Amino acid sequence: MAPDDFEYAARLMKERSGLVLTRDKGYLLENRLMPVVRQHKFKSFHELVAALRTGDAALQSSAVDAMMAKDTAFFRDWKPFVHFAKVVLPNITHARREKKLFRVLCAGVSTGQEAYSVAMTIRDAAQQFSGWRAEIIGVDLSPTAIAAASNAHYTQFDVQRGLPIKSLLRSFTKDDAGWQLNSDVRDMVKFQTWNLLTDIYPLGRFDVILCRNVMVYLDLQAKIDLLQKISRSLADDGVLYLGTQEPLTGVSAAFRPVNRDLGIYAVHRLDKVVLSSLAVPQKH
Ligand SMILES: C[S@@+](CC[C@H](N)C(=O)[O-])C[C@H]1O[C@@H](n2cnc3c(N)ncnc32)[C@H](O)[C@@H]1O
Repeated sequence: MAPDDFEYAARLMKERSGLVLTRDKGYLLENRLMPVVRQHKFKSFHELVAALRTGDAALQSSAVDAMMAKDTAFFRDWKPFVHFAKVVLPNITHARREKKLFRVLCAGVSTGQEAYSVAMTIRDAAQQFSGWRAEIIGVDLSPTAIAAASNAHYTQFDVQRGLPIKSLLRSFTKDDAGWQLNSDVRDMVKFQTWNLLTDIYPLGRFDVILCRNVMVYLDLQAKIDLLQKISRSLADDGVLYLGTQEPLTGVSAAFRPVNRDLGIYAVHRLDKVVLSSLAVPQKH
């Protein structure tokens, strides 16, 4: 790959998504963009970059979309979901007992499994939530991921990754091509295409934000900015879930760790007593 082509494509990715690509990631760039080369019948990666340079907005969006790492799974790393069910939901039912509304944002939701795992957890705690309104919003930069998330149709491979058999049988219907999520869970989540480099304030305020395995790809300044936006959009007693490999040390002072290993954080405005009530249960 010509160094000039790499520089241009890497700059485009960074400006549009925050993704940082060092020179040794040239192979990744080429691999991920090859489907775009083929789809548009370019003869080479160089031809694709030449077309991107003309400023073709649709082509640039497809290239950024194709470059995103979208790996995800139902109940990924499962322990944060145990914490959400056993600690956060009971806290919320107490703290929001007047309003009977709580809001969850899945930022960088990919193809939806994370948001639907939150929805199934809430649905399973339905007794606590009778008469409540739970709003779960999933956003992602990638229009193809958001389309798949809204479709809520998953392959056998997808449902075998992390989804307990009980949840599969209770929440999905089998068809020839895979598994369709049933409407009771599906209707609990709204998805939209959203770039986290822009402000998230228009999405409203949230009680819980999951932004897991997204920041790991961003450059430092993009991480700092995003965490600042997240802290402004979280309720004073809100909880943030990050990926387990995304420590906040040196990136943001706006959060206090509840459990670093599980990527669970509380906003700094929270007082110590409430913070201790978020402690991870000893037995999972
Ligand atoms: C590895 S997936 C993580 C999915 C899910 N949160 C999980 O942990 O399983 C990362 C997702 O972040 C999205 N993403 C990356 N940069 C983004 C940005 N600037 N704005 C919105 N979404 C972004 C990608 O499109 C991708 O779907």
